[in-house]
Amino acid sequence: MFISKIGEAVYEIGFKDWNRRLFDELIPLPDGTTYNAYLIKGSEKTALIDTVDTGKEEFLLKKLAALKIDRLDYLISNHSEQDHSGSIEAVLKKYPEAKLICSKKGQEVLSAHFTIDQDRFKVVADNETLSLGNLTLQFIMAPWVHWPETMLTYLIEEEILFPCDLFGSHLAQSGLFLSDYEHTYRSAKRYYAEIMMPFRQQIKGYLEKISKLPLKYIAPSHGVVYQEPRFILDAYRDWTSERVKNEVVLLYVSMHHSVAAFVTELISELEKKRIRVMPFNLTVSDIGEIAMALVDAATVLIATPALLGGAHPQIVSVTYLFNALRPKTKFLGIINSYGWGARVVEQLSSMLTAVKPEILPALVFKGIPREHTFQQAAELAELIFRKHQETGIVE
Ligand code: FEO
Repeated sequence: MFISKIGEAVYEIGFKDWNRRLFDELIPLPDGTTYNAYLIKGSEKTALIDTVDTGKEEFLLKKLAALKIDRLDYLISNHSEQDHSGSIEAVLKKYPEAKLICSKKGQEVLSAHFTIDQDRFKVVADNETLSLGNLTLQFIMAPWVHWPETMLTYLIEEEILFPCDLFGSHLAQSGLFLSDYEHTYRSAKRYYAEIMMPFRQQIKGYLEKISKLPLKYIAPSHGVVYQEPRFILDAYRDWTSERVKNEVVLLYVSMHHSVAAFVTELISELEKKRIRVMPFNLTVSDIGEIAMALVDAATVLIATPALLGGAHPQIVSVTYLFNALRPKTKFLGIINSYGWGARVVEQLSSMLTAVKPEILPALVFKGIPREHTFQQAAELAELIFRKHQETGIVE
């Protein structure tokens, strides 16, 4: 059995879920995922950071047995979501002396989802340390990345940060460490967009906190271990910043070609202005790709036919997701083709409760787009160009 090591004292003993294709029954996983769990052997005590998903506990226990771990002193739960906590009960059963270390909120969440004796818990506070003999763990409270109970663990002497989901990527690859930079960047960005983007403001604060730590490795609980921490820290600084790019995300559905015809013209007009357009026909699009496109784009356009007196249900769904993901979008426009009346603009506008982009004048047309409608497409492209110019993002 192959077990990767980080330095001399840390072993990665989690599980690579090569074939998983969906997370939260929502997020596509083109590259599978991993549930990384880290065993740390100190001179006096042994600790395990996080476990693996429910149903995968036998793999974790086999690796603990292969390493001849007869006694486990601490099981550290950085995050209570089941992909990391799903084997906690099995580990606590196997090692009855182990204390379960977590945040105060973590105790509450874990107790809600599992059956754990309360005397097994040891709650830790922000910056509290725990000695393993020659090694010391420090706990850094980091609520809302992406649940309320989350914390990070820092191994002081080895300068390794274990941030659980933060900086992670749904990426099963051969080997533990960062090797394919381009692919990992995309995976990490996709993960950020799907999971972390709504918590951009909190993450900015944690980046500041982390910047004070000497770091040799960042070892998340999904995807690769970063032996060059700057790679992922710089990426997160960029994604969480207020900077947007000269890009338009165009989310659309077309039932009888009218919206599609308008969208084709609009893309062409935006391209004339040297604005990058990322069109997504929602009937064939991957929501992970949409989320990723939303990370940087200055403008989002939503184009829908009318159906049953409102927007197409796929458009309602993506508008809900857009609002929930809280991207840093500066401008938003709604485009609607209708046959005999609908309240699409009011319906979609009322869904934007968590984001406050500047709303561009709605573009509504009856039936097929005609010459004057295509002229409106050119005017919309010109308006977006000017808005981007004013924002200082047009090169
Ligand atoms: Fe990887 Fe939020 O769990």
